[in-house]
Amino acid sequence: MADFTIRPAGVGDGSFLADMVVEAANWHGTSTRPRPAVLSDPVYRNYIAGWPRPADRGFVADDPQQRPVGAAWYRLLAADVPAHGFVAAGVPELIIGVTPVWRAQGVGRALLQALTDAAHAAGFSRIALSVEHGNHAESLYRSEGFAVVASRGGRDTMVRRLG
Ligand SMILES: CC(C)(COP(=O)(O)OP(=O)(O)OC[C@H]1O[C@@H](n2cnc3c(N)ncnc32)[C@H](O)[C@@H]1OP(=O)(O)O)[C@@H](O)C(=O)NCCC(=O)NCCS
Repeated sequence: MADFTIRPAGVGDGSFLADMVVEAANWHGTSTRPRPAVLSDPVYRNYIAGWPRPADRGFVADDPQQRPVGAAWYRLLAADVPAHGFVAAGVPELIIGVTPVWRAQGVGRALLQALTDAAHAAGFSRIALSVEHGNHAESLYRSEGFAVVASRGGRDTMVRRLG
C-alpha cells in the first residue's frame, strides 16, 4: 500500500477540502470547471461553506511530508438547501476526493472506511452520497456497502446502512 496517513480534518483544512470539492466536480477530466465556478455553484458550495460546522466530521490523508493528498467528510444538510445526495433529515451526505497523482493507491478506500466508522460512532444509522453515472467511484462505494436508492439526472444517490 502507498505511504500515507489518515488524520481527522480540522479547522485549517477548509481550503484543501474545497480543492477536493473541485476534484469531485471535475471527476471526468474532460471539461474542467475552474475552482471559482465550482465553489460558487449553489450545490457544491453547500458541501464546504462555513467549514467546520458543529456536526461536520472528516478525515484527511497526508503524504510522508504531511502534505494533504485526499479528504472525505460528511455534513448534515437540510431538505430545503440544494444538494445532490439528500435522502432525509438526519442522514449525512459525504464528499470525497483524492489528488490525481495519489488515485488508485488505496487512499479513497481508507478515507471512506474512516468516515463511515466515524459516522457510525457518532450515532448515525445511514450515510448518503451522490455519484454521476460513469464515475468509477461507484464501484468503490458498492464494495464498501453502499447501494443505489435513487437515480435521476445522470446521478445515482447511494446509501449505506451503518452498524
Ligand atoms: C473516487 C476517488 C475518491 C477514489 O479514491 P482512490 O484513492 O482513487 O481509490 P482507491 O485507490 O482507494 O480505490 C478503491 C476502488 O476504487 C475503484 N477505482 C479506483 N481507481 C480506479 C480506476 N482508475 N478505474 C476503475 N476503478 C477504480 C476500484 O474499485 C478500487 O477498488 P480496488 O482497490 O479493489 O481496485 C478518487 O479516484 C477521486 O478523487 N476521483 C475524482 C473525484 C471523484 O470522483 N470524487 C467522488 C465524487 S462522487
